[in-house]
Amino acid sequence: MSNKLQQLKLQAESCIACKLATTRNRVVFGEGNPDARVMFIGEGPGRREDELGRPFVGRSGELLTRIIENGMKLSRESVYIANIVKCRPTVDMAMQKDRAPDQEEVAACSHFLQKQIELIQPEVIVTLGGPSTKFILNSKEGITRLRGQWHSYREIPVMPTFHPSYILRNGGDKSPLKKDVWHDIQLVMKKLDEPGPG
Ligand code: URA
Repeated sequence: MSNKLQQLKLQAESCIACKLATTRNRVVFGEGNPDARVMFIGEGPGRREDELGRPFVGRSGELLTRIIENGMKLSRESVYIANIVKCRPTVDMAMQKDRAPDQEEVAACSHFLQKQIELIQPEVIVTLGGPSTKFILNSKEGITRLRGQWHSYREIPVMPTFHPSYILRNGGDKSPLKKDVWHDIQLVMKKLDEPGPG
């Protein structure tokens, strides 16, 4: 990991800027190649991620890994995977269910993600689901309207697509939404094939 990313990770690991610090087991900073061409952004760690301190390692992580490895023919290590918030948002202190981060949590945490993007400078960002798409694009539009088209974040092309957990909740491998995700991912692969500046 680059020195600056490593420093940022240490900073995140001792963060107590929001209430999620009181219920987390592990800070899930994000992982992958500091020189990644593609960066995937989800909303926040779930139960498994909170246990292991790694992003997208639960059921939706398995699907994301399949998309990266089987669909895009990239290794998971060659991309970068992060979330808007670094600690698990749960609905209750019993920590049974996951939820999307609230505004206060996003406001307290998102500077870490912004700095990660600045340090990694990916060629393409893929936002997974509504919350990360709305945050990155500063938009109130729903994911169904935004996905499948190019947008941008500080001049970096952004492709929003459905969150893997949404696919899993809507039929999994048989989900009709899979073809939409495949469409979006193909656009990303095409963009990565285009000759870069210079
Ligand atoms: N869902 C997310 O948005 N991020 C994770 O890391 C895991 C599940």
